[in-house]
Amino acid sequence: MPQIRFPKTKSQILIFSCMAVSISLFGCTSNSQKSVPLAELKRSKEGMVVSAHPLASEAGKLMLEKGGNAVDAAVATAFAISVVEPFSAGIGGGGFLLLGTPPENSETQQYKIRALDFRERAPKAATRNMYLNEKGEVDKRASLDGHLAVGVPGTVARLYNVHKYYGKLSWSELLKPAIRYARDGFEVSDIFVSRLERRLEVINKNPAARDIFTKDGEVYQPGDLLIQTDKAQTLETIAKNPQSFYTGKIAEAIATDMAKAGGLITLEDLKDYTPIWREPICGKFREARVCAMPPPSSGGVHLLQILNIVGETNLQKWGRENPDTIHLLTEAMRVAYADRSKYLGDPDFVEVPVKELTSLSYAQKRREEINLEKVRRSSEVEPVSPEVLRSHIWESPDTTHLTVVDAERNVISMTYTINGSFGAGVVTAGTGILLNNEMDDFAVAPGVPNLYGLVGGEANAIAPRKTPLSSMTPTIVTENGRLIMATGAPGGSTIITTVLQVVLNVLEYQMNAAEAVSAPRFHHQWLPDKLMLETGGFSEVTVNELKQRGHNVVMRRGWGNANVIVMDETGILEGAADPRGEGEAMGSGE
Ligand code: GLY
Repeated sequence: MPQIRFPKTKSQILIFSCMAVSISLFGCTSNSQKSVPLAELKRSKEGMVVSAHPLASEAGKLMLEKGGNAVDAAVATAFAISVVEPFSAGIGGGGFLLLGTPPENSETQQYKIRALDFRERAPKAATRNMYLNEKGEVDKRASLDGHLAVGVPGTVARLYNVHKYYGKLSWSELLKPAIRYARDGFEVSDIFVSRLERRLEVINKNPAARDIFTKDGEVYQPGDLLIQTDKAQTLETIAKNPQSFYTGKIAEAIATDMAKAGGLITLEDLKDYTPIWREPICGKFREARVCAMPPPSSGGVHLLQILNIVGETNLQKWGRENPDTIHLLTEAMRVAYADRSKYLGDPDFVEVPVKELTSLSYAQKRREEINLEKVRRSSEVEPVSPEVLRSHIWESPDTTHLTVVDAERNVISMTYTINGSFGAGVVTAGTGILLNNEMDDFAVAPGVPNLYGLVGGEANAIAPRKTPLSSMTPTIVTENGRLIMATGAPGGSTIITTVLQVVLNVLEYQMNAAEAVSAPRFHHQWLPDKLMLETGGFSEVTVNELKQRGHNVVMRRGWGNANVIVMDETGILEGAADPRGEGEAMGSGE
């Protein structure tokens, strides 16, 4: 087999070889000039907050400096994100959170990891065929735009729940920065504007959304001040009484608006919403214990499944850009996403074979099926009709992730979302709450891909009160009772593979936090049968070698907007936000 091996030990040389020079030993081309820059590395002995927006990280850092813990900082950061990055996540959506608390004795005990599911749920009136028209055809826009696309939001319930058990500062203190950002305004960025441009048509159809997010129907420009007076008022109400979102006047406003506009969410749906504490999925990779989110997210299952398929393979020796490495990981991704579409769904409604999918024996079997010289087509891994094979939708990189570690080394890794950019494009009048379009994460019909091109089946069919399947992968890695790293990413279907690569970059390639979030990425999700490589990140030699093995290679600009906190051997925290986004890591006490 033709192999190009770059067995370097210095990970930086491997990863950034194609970034630093236009022509190198490895044959980089002009492609390289479009590479992702290296993230800024922040270091702190005390605490660290990393999120997708500097103002949100600032809010979290403030809480740490007021004597709050990781939970306080995460709650403040999350509320702030819902104001300053409203297009990606907020109080009108939901998500998943991992909380890690250190053991009293790290010699003998492990970190305690808890997982909180605050994902949106289908309203009680939701039906399996709610997005099919009279002819039985899927009305694709109905699960994406407008009131019918909205799942019952969980964010406020979750933030309150986790704070009630673990927070130190007062609840109302945590909302202050978000209220200030909403009332006084903040300058919108070019990322905000580009998301708005994409969703302008839908937003303009909803008067309440149009009033807030446009200037008389036109897009804001970078640097314009966005003031959200209704949202400030809503946050003040939540600061006094979080339950108002589910049983009070905010709930009434949501239910009234839904009834008027053909949505399904009722007061009863809101009253009945409860976040669920679940057992995280943990597995071993090398000496580390990797914990991530269980179903109804697919993230933890497939992160562990792919790491298990890698097994003992010495990827560091192979080299990160070695086509063998990319090929092996791609084939493992192909298997994982095929399993995702077949087996994964809400565990309260369907039996998900988590133990089997994450077992070492299953990984060994799937590993043996991989031919290192040649791709298997996706239809060979799991049969699929030609129609489904052709279908492909790929639109939105949204969702957000935040990571916090405090002085006691409590950790929060939290990913949350309103799904697509600006969610359903619907604001509940008078509240400023932008609602999600999470219903699209169900399999709206067998074989019909969602926003991210993911195809699902029976396990992820719509049912009343069911939770749509997610890819969100908040992750905490520890070793012998000691924190190694915490990470996560937005990006729909690419979340799992982004997190996988950040984890491998730290554990296998010994990168620091900045290198780990900056390194070029690749992604395969079974369907469509395409290997996506990040533009500028891979040499021509590598790309050609992958094509020769049969990969349908497509180049795609950066995706993921991950962030990570790594704790080094001396106990110093390193934080870095993805240079593909506008986030920032901030150490406390600096
Ligand atoms: N809405 C994207 C996900 O949950 O995976």
